[in-house]
Amino acid sequence: MSIFKRTPSHKPDLIFGLEEQFRNDPRPTKVNLVVGTYRCPDLKLRTMRSVVEAEKLLMRGEENKAYLPIEGQHSFLKRMQHLVFGDKMYAVLQKRLTAIQSLGGTGALQLGGMFLRHLVSDRLYLPSPTWPNHLGVFDLCGMTVQYYPYYNIVESRIDYENMLESFSQIPQRSIIIFHACCHNPTGCDLDRSQWREISSILIERELIPFFDFAYQGFGHELCDDAWAVRHFAEQGHEMLVATSCSKNFGLYGERTGCLLILSNDGQFSQNVAGSIKKIVRGSYSNPPRHGASIVATILCNDRLRNIWRDEMRQIRLHIKEMRTMLVDAFLSQRGGEKFQILRKGVGLFSALGLEKAQVERLRDEYGIYCTENSRVNLTGLSRKNIAYVTEAIMKIQR
Ligand code: LMR
Repeated sequence: MSIFKRTPSHKPDLIFGLEEQFRNDPRPTKVNLVVGTYRCPDLKLRTMRSVVEAEKLLMRGEENKAYLPIEGQHSFLKRMQHLVFGDKMYAVLQKRLTAIQSLGGTGALQLGGMFLRHLVSDRLYLPSPTWPNHLGVFDLCGMTVQYYPYYNIVESRIDYENMLESFSQIPQRSIIIFHACCHNPTGCDLDRSQWREISSILIERELIPFFDFAYQGFGHELCDDAWAVRHFAEQGHEMLVATSCSKNFGLYGERTGCLLILSNDGQFSQNVAGSIKKIVRGSYSNPPRHGASIVATILCNDRLRNIWRDEMRQIRLHIKEMRTMLVDAFLSQRGGEKFQILRKGVGLFSALGLEKAQVERLRDEYGIYCTENSRVNLTGLSRKNIAYVTEAIMKIQR
């Protein structure tokens, strides 16, 4: 009798499981719209030029393979805080900020979740819909996870009234997860007046904002995508921000990100840092070095920073172009007008509003892979496959 006999079976991961299924699909016409990785117009995932140049500098320099401090590389952490809050605001907030390097954005969410669960609150609310792994991460932290309405998929609009109504009922000191920009999966963000109103409600109701900030620079300029986070900081929230360098530096496999925690009094920052360092030390000891060195090298070097900003501009332009091309391709077909609404979105994703059975038909009959909630990575589309994809989508709806 095996000691593992009680180990339950698990379904494949809702995102990476599909990626594996795609890899094993022999059809030459297959299309991959699944994982949130930026693809160049020829559908290849390339290392960014700024990253390649930074790596060359690192090779010539003194980088060694010694352990990093438990909290991470200091110049990386400093630069990330500048990136998120901007120079002026960072100067004001720095004494009240705790920054800890993490294993990508997911690792930052997990560190934040563990910390909150033990020392602040175990009640956490996710937007519905959201990135499916939010549930996995916070469930594993031992949180009681519930949802608040964010987007009405049937009417293709943000469910603002119901969202506010739910914030008025959520118990005090609960944690509210927000996508800081480029909402995953819908691509539909709150506008500034809505963020302002939500900020006031959260203060009044003593709710704790935790921003998932995985796509800075994918929707708008870097500072504009940070608007909501900066506004909440300005309004005096105590809050958490999980940032990621996976997307905007293309450092997916380097697992580079950081958790930022803003408290309302600098005297708490040291204890907060100490508590999170204990979690890090007890789980993976200290973070990986290379990704953080790359980001710090780029952000500390004017020439590389400019190259990187320019690359981000090109990425945004390409995503915008693909979004427009997708909508135009739908419009050229009978019944395609209902997809006009996708024009409004920002960032890497759009949710097509298809049913699960239709998503399965797309995959089984046409080899077109998107997530179960019909989220598509717009950069998985190209001039070559867009007609095939949109025609198939129209067909499976008839
Ligand atoms: C995604 O949403 O596809 C990416 O963030 C990859 C992941 O970790 O799920």
